[in-house]
Amino acid sequence: MVVWSRIRKDFPVLNQLYEGKSLIYFDSACMALKPIQVWEAMEYYYKYLGACGGAGRSTHSLGAETSLLTEQARQKVTSFINAESPNEIIWTRNATEGLNIIAATIPLTKDENVVTTTLEHHSGMLPFYKRCTETGSELRLVEAKEDGTFDPADFEEKIDDKTKIVSFVHASNLTGSVAPLEEVVRISHEHDALVISDDAQFAPHQKLDVRAIDVDFSVISIHKAVGPTGIGVLYGKYELLEELDMFLVGGDVIEDVVYENNKITPKYLPPPHKFEAGLQNYGGILGAGAAVDYLEKIGMDNIHNLEQKFSRKLLEGVLELDKFEIMGPMDYKQRTALVSFRPKSDSVNHNDVVEYFNELLPQHKILMRGGNMCVHPFQYQIGINPRKGEGVVRASLYIYNTMEEIEIFLGELENFAKVID
Ligand SMILES: Cc1ncc(COP(=O)(O)O)c(C=O)c1O
Repeated sequence: MVVWSRIRKDFPVLNQLYEGKSLIYFDSACMALKPIQVWEAMEYYYKYLGACGGAGRSTHSLGAETSLLTEQARQKVTSFINAESPNEIIWTRNATEGLNIIAATIPLTKDENVVTTTLEHHSGMLPFYKRCTETGSELRLVEAKEDGTFDPADFEEKIDDKTKIVSFVHASNLTGSVAPLEEVVRISHEHDALVISDDAQFAPHQKLDVRAIDVDFSVISIHKAVGPTGIGVLYGKYELLEELDMFLVGGDVIEDVVYENNKITPKYLPPPHKFEAGLQNYGGILGAGAAVDYLEKIGMDNIHNLEQKFSRKLLEGVLELDKFEIMGPMDYKQRTALVSFRPKSDSVNHNDVVEYFNELLPQHKILMRGGNMCVHPFQYQIGINPRKGEGVVRASLYIYNTMEEIEIFLGELENFAKVID
């Protein structure tokens, strides 16, 4: 049994009074808070190692231990997402970098196309838009339904034998909706198209099993999974990673650079090192390993069950007030613990809500994000105009939140609704 109140104690941010008020952190979809165990792993690196790791680098004791711990962390991520081999796990700066690596290195010709959706985070869409613009390939957009869910038939319509890759958001950072990735993979594979799933909002909240889903590539944002900033993961099936072009080149991706007859011939390392140019973020990698350990110890099923309770209470509570328009599906089971909403009244906008909850409550600061959440196309699609300053407020929860916090939030939201009437 998980004692959630004990989990919360691992996050000292929540135990402080900030400007004399207690904090309710509802912005985990942007950035998760970090437990002590993660800082300790990072501290160990900075305090006792501080050296470089990596293939072909310093083999002295500090370098060797850094390499060992880095590879152990890679193994932890391998199990976390059930990849077949640690050689399929590439350290990146964040999910965005992983998406850019795939978009930039996948072979793509003018007569091929890329399929993505209107619900993508810009990071899942723009790298492919850029690449298609460069190659002259077509970028096809599947429209999400008004509630942020998808009709598989729309993928059947857009994906054909000329589709090279499908970039798909597994769980949306705007609507919280969890999409039928298996269906998309099935349809894509029928046409020999590859799928990259954006798991930035999925992997921290539910068990991601890349082999069961049979997805070809996936990206994870470690900072949304109680890990440090500046570290992410790109997963790829090994044989596909082998085929991809180089991305960044330089040190650490090289087996040899032969010099003969006044010419150089580089020989590159196989994956994953092929994609890890230069010295790495060793402190961050050790922190990532600790983050994954931390989540595994709680259990991804326990996390999912807790979040389903949050999702239900939050969704039903905001709906009941009847003063706010809610993005996403109305069935809490189809969502992560995240609700984006905006006042129905024209007298206030999303920024007013965020400011009210951050600044004007007597005892608390309830921290939420307001704006367009890097998902402009879907908002245009459903009639929210970012150019006119329109947007939403997002309350997103995680393992350190409590039902009591949701009750406080809903009570204050009710008070706010009275003020704007
Ligand atoms: C769905 C989704 N994809 C990608 C990203 C980008 O993640 P990162 O900051 O790790 O690049 C985010 C960040 O909010 C996201 O929510």
